[in-house]
Amino acid sequence: MSMLWFITILVITVFISYSPAYAYDNNPLQDICVAVNDSQAAVFVNGKICKDPKFTTANDFFASGLNVSGTAAPGSGGAAKFFTVDNIPGLNTLGISIGRIDLEPQRLAPLHTHPRATELITVLDGILYVGFLVPDAANFFKSRLFSKILYPGDVFVFPIGLIHFQYNVGHKKATYLAAFNSQNPGFIFVPNSIFASNPPIADDVLTQGFHLSKTQIAELRRKFS
Ligand SMILES: *[C@@H]1O[C@H](CO)[C@@H](O)[C@H](O)[C@H]1NC(C)=O
Ligand SMILES: *[C@@H]1O[C@H](CO)[C@@H](O)[C@H](O)[C@H]1NC(C)=O
Repeated sequence: MSMLWFITILVITVFISYSPAYAYDNNPLQDICVAVNDSQAAVFVNGKICKDPKFTTANDFFASGLNVSGTAAPGSGGAAKFFTVDNIPGLNTLGISIGRIDLEPQRLAPLHTHPRATELITVLDGILYVGFLVPDAANFFKSRLFSKILYPGDVFVFPIGLIHFQYNVGHKKATYLAAFNSQNPGFIFVPNSIFASNPPIADDVLTQGFHLSKTQIAELRRKFS
């Protein structure tokens, strides 16, 4: 009996260890699956439906414009431009996308996370202070900060799902490229998610959650709304 158990467990272990690793985005099941521009579609699928390959052209795999910065959000001191499956429909099912971010001196890409992607940045210009937070294995109510000063040519990776930031500590504009292992990495800006939700989170949750008074919470809501 114990031998049978041993063999059963061995078989299960071998099966689990040799199962293929699943990427977060769908793995392609055909050569190409160029996305139909389906913003009006009434049916939602996990990814986008494919265009008939007969009507696919080279432009479905192309975008230009990362040689110039995106449009700056008013007052933010930062501009971003992303090429995801929404701009390059040929990215559908490929699990990859790219962006360009420009930050004015002493301006910040605020604490955020990408729920579906690891982010790999390459600094083209300027000096950045970047970092991400990892829950402390010994105490999940604390975290460890992994941070670094980056110069042109430097590369840094922010693991999937972890909260991170990029801050321009130089005296001129900083520019970096960001690659993501998702066709649609997603963005969650932590302060905005919490203080600019619609409808707002009940006061008690935020006052207890942040050890702040109702007045302080109201002030934060006002700043982020
Ligand atoms: C950026 O690239 C586009 C497309 O190749 C080109 O038309 C444009 O002149 C370039 N802009 C700059 C500022 O280099
Ligand atoms: C998809 O359609 C929208 C709305 O018609 C348009 O603004 C957008 O540029 C289109 N995207 C692509 C990749 O063609």
